[in-house]
Amino acid sequence: MSTQQSPHGHGTVAPRGHATGEVAERFENPGLPPHRHRRADSDPDAAKRAERQVAVLFGISILGTIAALWAYFALPLEGTIASVRTSNLVLGVGLALGMTGIGLAAIHWAKTLMSDVERVDERHPIRSDDDVRETAVQMLKDGAADSGIGRRPLLKGALVGAVALAPLPFVVPLVGNLGGSWDVGALKQTAWRAGRRLAIDPTDVPIKASDVTIGSIFSVMPEGLPDEPHYLEEKAKAVVILLRLDPRDLTEAEDRKGWSYEGIIAYSKICTHVGCPVALYEQQTHHLLCPCHQSTFDVADGAKVLFGPAKRPLPQLPITVDDEGYLIAQSDFTEPVGPSFWERLK
Ligand code: FES
Repeated sequence: MSTQQSPHGHGTVAPRGHATGEVAERFENPGLPPHRHRRADSDPDAAKRAERQVAVLFGISILGTIAALWAYFALPLEGTIASVRTSNLVLGVGLALGMTGIGLAAIHWAKTLMSDVERVDERHPIRSDDDVRETAVQMLKDGAADSGIGRRPLLKGALVGAVALAPLPFVVPLVGNLGGSWDVGALKQTAWRAGRRLAIDPTDVPIKASDVTIGSIFSVMPEGLPDEPHYLEEKAKAVVILLRLDPRDLTEAEDRKGWSYEGIIAYSKICTHVGCPVALYEQQTHHLLCPCHQSTFDVADGAKVLFGPAKRPLPQLPITVDDEGYLIAQSDFTEPVGPSFWERLK
């Protein structure tokens, strides 16, 4: 029978049409390499040392998980970017140690303490016959016995502890956020107060009415907010879109007369659909668009919804000017900002 060189240059292959059994016969089964015994197989001290190492790795996992939980519950978030970064860092490192510790412990346990006898299984039909299935079950039982978990209470306890704690960093925040009690009252108030100046976000520079020309738009927040606790949370509620229209274009409801100043109006920047920041302003039409799901608000007419999934207008912040010409709030918003969902949680 003729032969030909493999296209990859490794050995020979049979011409097409020849039985594969003939090909198999051309290769010698290299067999298994000689078995190398590990120290832990014959040295009880080495086995004990390996056991302690595995326990230490499980212990690292436990400490990492506890650190992640501590970061979630106890590390104070002061509303500064630095504190958020620190919290995220500790959470991430804790989770990484929690997961990596279990993985490394399992690998080290398998490599040093579990049986490393080589076994060869011939290929067989996908569904094994009953004898083989019984044998497999027996092998699993043997494997469990071989791991020595029954004889090694230290490892058993460490394994149970690590595996039991590992899901907590994922489960606890979920349960806490879904089932915990929300402070709905806090969502109904923002940092705006009567007389508080409007300042440009993020520079915190107070803004005068004369700075706001017709057609311009600013993102503003209460002056001095960056120096207050929980800055990011407060800003997320209080951020406002400030614009100036020709007063003749403005349609004001009876109960909102006097909420604007010479065509300058302020609306919550938090979309009433699901809370994205609305920021796309079309000067000619006076339309304000939310980029997330295209809700469109008419800023010339109380920010009423013209299009999209939002169900209510953007809340309006009543404003005026102080003696120096700076824009100030007349009060807080008179309704909750953000998604309408909050209105139902009374
Ligand atoms: S969040 Fe604004 S349209 Fe959905």
